[in-house]
Amino acid sequence: MQGSANLNIMIKAARKAGRSLVKDFREVENLQVGSKGPGDFVSKADMAAEEILREELIGARPNYGWLGEETGETPGTDPTRRWIVDPLDGTTNFLHGMPHWAVSIALEHKGEIVAGVVFDAAKDEMFYAEKGAGAWLNDSQRLRVSGRHRMIDCVFATGVPFGGRKYLPATLQDLARLMPACAGVRRWGSAALDLAYVAAGRYDGYWERGLHAWDVAAGLLIAKEAGAIVQPIREGQNLVEDGQVLAAAEPIFDQFAKIIRDRSEI
Ligand code: IPD
Repeated sequence: MQGSANLNIMIKAARKAGRSLVKDFREVENLQVGSKGPGDFVSKADMAAEEILREELIGARPNYGWLGEETGETPGTDPTRRWIVDPLDGTTNFLHGMPHWAVSIALEHKGEIVAGVVFDAAKDEMFYAEKGAGAWLNDSQRLRVSGRHRMIDCVFATGVPFGGRKYLPATLQDLARLMPACAGVRRWGSAALDLAYVAAGRYDGYWERGLHAWDVAAGLLIAKEAGAIVQPIREGQNLVEDGQVLAAAEPIFDQFAKIIRDRSEI
């Protein structure tokens, strides 16, 4: 797809940060066996990737605002545009030497996401979309959500809250209701890639609570542009800011959403 200048800047930045992360990922594999483990090293890799993204994105568009997982919020002189960036979505996978993590970059304009890039550098899969121009994988593969319409044939993804986070009971209840009705649920540890996989028709749907804007901003646009319905779990929540997300192909969206929404107050 012939993207805009901004999309090209985002793709170039994602590739550059991805190259740095791939190099560090090889090192993580060597550090696994040490008693200290690779924790500090991974934090540095994460920070270095965000620094690369900042140089590339703010270097090209110095007036845009910035929201990054590692460096937080910096307002721009143009208050209508902001980059929303997660240099390493799937940090736990990276830390444990599992090749399922991504660089995620979104561009917001007047409160709406207008471009998104999710780059799985370990598998060299670049997912991207611009508002109104469809969703794409690598150079020319147009993405389309799955066409399955029987819940029992569908595979869903979620994130199960870890480390005592507050949405664990709600998620376990979701799983108890959803698992008997479908073909399987995956928890692969990268919200950005979960949404990209919905776009690619690999997952039929995805839901999660307690996310941050940088986890989902790019992936939500990619899923939407591939034909997914994307909604907050509760009416009135802001899809990007409140981090309560439901995304699925149209034929099963209502059945899936009913199961997730039926009981939960949150
Ligand atoms: C995490 C991943 C994970 C999700 C967590 C996020 P991070 O992002 O997206 O899939 O379940 O809630 O925090 O910390 O690896 O950037």
